[in-house]
Amino acid sequence: MRVYITLPFILVGLLFCSHSFAEEALEDTISYEQSKELYRDNCASCHGKKGNAKTLMGRMLKPKPKAFQSVLSDPSMNDEKLFSAISDGKPDTAMRAFNTDLSEDEIKAVITYIKKEFED
Ligand code: HEC
Repeated sequence: MRVYITLPFILVGLLFCSHSFAEEALEDTISYEQSKELYRDNCASCHGKKGNAKTLMGRMLKPKPKAFQSVLSDPSMNDEKLFSAISDGKPDTAMRAFNTDLSEDEIKAVITYIKKEFED
């Protein structure tokens, strides 16, 4: 009798476990080099290889792309805000939504890259 009660719990548990394992595995597949490539391909034209937004595009755009050094030193900034800015874009600016091109894991990998490279 007890088996019938515990079995569903075990099955549900397994389901959740395998789900998070799969997610972790996916994140692990994006290497540092790949994150760098994602950044250079998608972001560097405006924000610059060094993240300081000193680019040709930067000079032409209004509002200007932000230097990550100042974005990241803003105490009100956090991973969630970074994620939504990149995923959904910023209305009325050249910062477009990247959720059409990049997966959630790719956006997270880019955030990790930016923080590692450009946070003072
Ligand atoms: C076409 C130029 C352009 C490209 C390409 C671009 N950005 Fe931006 N980005 C901007 C501009 C302009 C702003 C400033 C928006 C504003 O003033 O609020 C900005 C702002 C941001 C911000 C700050 C948002 C905030 O709330 O302060 C982040 C973070 C950011 N970009 C990340 C990225 C990442 C990561 C990529 C690549 C996946 C990228 N951007 C690609 C132009 C660009």
